[in-house]
Amino acid sequence: MNVLLTGGTGYIGSHIAVELLNSGYDVTIADDFSNSSPEVAGYITKISGKSPIVYELDATDNASVDAMFRECLPNAVIHLAGFKAVGESVFAPLKYYRNNLDCTLTLLEAMERHGVWRLIFSSSATVYGNQERLPYTEDMQTRECSNPYGSTKQIIERIITDTSANGWLSSVILRYFNPVGAHKSGLIGESPRNEPNNLMPYITQVAIGKLPKLKVYGNDYPTSDGTGIRDYIHVVDLAKGHVKALEYSLTRSGVEIFNLGTGHGYSVLELIDIYERVNNIKIPFVIAPRRPGDLPESYADATKAEKMLGWKTELTIEDMCRDSYAAARLGTS
Ligand code: UD1
Repeated sequence: MNVLLTGGTGYIGSHIAVELLNSGYDVTIADDFSNSSPEVAGYITKISGKSPIVYELDATDNASVDAMFRECLPNAVIHLAGFKAVGESVFAPLKYYRNNLDCTLTLLEAMERHGVWRLIFSSSATVYGNQERLPYTEDMQTRECSNPYGSTKQIIERIITDTSANGWLSSVILRYFNPVGAHKSGLIGESPRNEPNNLMPYITQVAIGKLPKLKVYGNDYPTSDGTGIRDYIHVVDLAKGHVKALEYSLTRSGVEIFNLGTGHGYSVLELIDIYERVNNIKIPFVIAPRRPGDLPESYADATKAEKMLGWKTELTIEDMCRDSYAAARLGTS
């Protein structure tokens, strides 16, 4: 069975490719390498012992997407391609709406033309917006997002839901909480091209001496120690969730939404503390003003995925901190 993975050489995509190949699926990757590099395909092969087929293409380009479908005949699609820098999306909203919506529409149209009706979509917990209740459950009404990146995820969820209601598409929408960590080999990981926006890659760059100190955005939130609480999930657990979602989609029709998180939140200060302890290293930090758009607290109710997909996380927060640091020291994060 051949799975087309858009954005397959990116941070999350490369880990999904490894888990798919390890589970016996053939993998075709489509990527434009705008935020990754062709060498990642070689690392995927080195880890799994099997090679994905790789297409370098712009997923908004109808003719190239069509030609790829004709050649590789996928049985299912896992769609990750898209821009993901939250801050940039505020300054360049049209770039985000044009690219993220266009590649999804192009892909869905190609799937319909070629009779491919199974889709797994990479969404984000950001679609919940600011809720009164925690943890987040999949049946909560989504709320307005503070940035265009999040809005593109909400709109794409809508497009997929409407298309699935139409009968031909069977889809699973996965809402990621905060993916961190890296594969045990250290060969694939998160390698932000510019100064990282997210907490774990920032801590890691401080740890390896690339950045001088971390800014903790706010210590006056209504949380146990005043800093923001998030549900960090190891990227390998997240990748395994995609394999389970794919298996699920093979026997169902319609659309189903699942949170992929651990169900537990850690504060910024707790994360720094654990990172320092497991890696035996000091992370210098200062308290800075809150970052606009940040929520005090976010964590998943992860029980639906456990009940319906038979999936739950296995790796701990200590594993996440250890593997992020190890990959960074090898130069992949
Ligand atoms: C961010 C995005 C979210 C996206 C997610 C992807 C924003 C506002 N939100 O979520 O849309 O889906 O990444 O993983 O960018 N922090 C610091 N110092 C830093 C960086 C972060 O203290 O240098 C704090 C934040 O205030 C927050 C926590 O660390 O409390 C986690 O931040 P981050 O890793 O950026 O993730 P999110 O804000 O959850």
